[in-house]
Amino acid sequence: SESGCLSIVVLGASGDLAKKKTFPALFHLFQQGFLQSGEVHIFGYARSDISDDGLRERIRGYLKGASDEVISEFLQLSMKIQKATNQEARVDYFIWHCLHQSTPSNDGWTRVIVEKPFGKDLDSAEELSAQLGELFNEQQLYRIDHYLGKELVQNLLVLRFANRLFLPLWNRDNIANVQIVFREDFGTEGRGGYFDQYGIIRDIIQNHLLQVFCLVAMEKPVSLKPEHIRDEKVKVLQSVTPINHDEVVLGQYDGYKDDSTVPDDSNTPTFASLVLRVHNERWEGVPFILKAGKALNNRKAEIRVQFKDAPGDIFKCKKQGRNEFVIRLQPSEAMYMKLTVKKPGLEMATEQSELDLSYGLRYQDVKIPEAYERLILDTIRGDQQHFVRRDELRAAWEIFTPLLHDIDAGKLKALPYKPGTRGPSEADELSKRMGYVQTHGYVWIPPT
Ligand code: BG6
Repeated sequence: SESGCLSIVVLGASGDLAKKKTFPALFHLFQQGFLQSGEVHIFGYARSDISDDGLRERIRGYLKGASDEVISEFLQLSMKIQKATNQEARVDYFIWHCLHQSTPSNDGWTRVIVEKPFGKDLDSAEELSAQLGELFNEQQLYRIDHYLGKELVQNLLVLRFANRLFLPLWNRDNIANVQIVFREDFGTEGRGGYFDQYGIIRDIIQNHLLQVFCLVAMEKPVSLKPEHIRDEKVKVLQSVTPINHDEVVLGQYDGYKDDSTVPDDSNTPTFASLVLRVHNERWEGVPFILKAGKALNNRKAEIRVQFKDAPGDIFKCKKQGRNEFVIRLQPSEAMYMKLTVKKPGLEMATEQSELDLSYGLRYQDVKIPEAYERLILDTIRGDQQHFVRRDELRAAWEIFTPLLHDIDAGKLKALPYKPGTRGPSEADELSKRMGYVQTHGYVWIPPT
């Protein structure tokens, strides 16, 4: 508002997301001077019975990397807790109510960050959009997908469109396949009840991986204006053809159903690998493999763009010599390009090596911001570039709804896999079937 006062209302203030992400993000913004005492008020709404001080103490446990003094200063930003009753748990009422309490004056602005789940399928998402649409216009709605706040996800546009090197290569003539992979080395841990209603496709693939897919596959936007970028995302989503069930592998880790909140006969996938195909001039025939799993052997999110074999091979290094461009979103942000090089030494032998841009080495002094921190700041600044537009959400649900309904109806079965493994071996076979060739770094391949 004109008085320069900003009220931030956190719904579900005693919940998991608020503790782990929202409050730490607000705290980092405070530390960097974006939220000033006296100008900012933070209100928390929660269903748990908790006092203002109780909430402050709970949040304190999640704030790290600062002195007790700074943390206390942050916690004094007039943190108020409003107890919500069960009837108020409906999101529309909640927002409405908060809005009335928090809009400082008519000169001010109100923006609402909405977190997933945005429905469970096309119809429920549309219903939610319609409800929100009655209360707010699209410019006020910030549908958050925190993957869009990750450093290397934000780098995708720059990489693709500011580098001459990639421009002529980024298409079906040169790229054999693309994999977008999310792996976690822990299970649903206390979120079993929520998770079982959704499954890995709704939890990770339909949103996080699909957003990454958009940025990898979309055409160049007219400009960096949010609407221009989002127009291109919608277009590429609309070019995706219906998912073929033969190109889907589902898994569920052993022990998932031990959680008392998960039904014994649950078929909910905790792992999925599936192929998207884009029906356009750039991508016809190139499989995009989207893979996500919980309770796997490691935690990693990466994009792998695998190029076709170099024609007319004279080195006999065969497919081990494929170029692959890997963008590791986490942990340890990095980009590397697998290349075939001469193995240093007297012999004329080739090996796979890497052109490596590891952020930890190159940008040693830069602290990479947390996704939520960046996205909350974007909201305060009124920049919707990294948020999901209503028609984009609709297009995303259109892709996955038929498959999800078939899974919910038990037409596709989740295969069991052992926690701590790569998931069902059928998924590796699917990648292989899609033409993905496992390449090996630093392995000497003797000439034949
Ligand atoms: C959330 C999912 O959106 O993303 C979680 O609901 C998942 O299941 C989390 O663990 C992963 O986020 P990140 O940033 O740790 O990769």
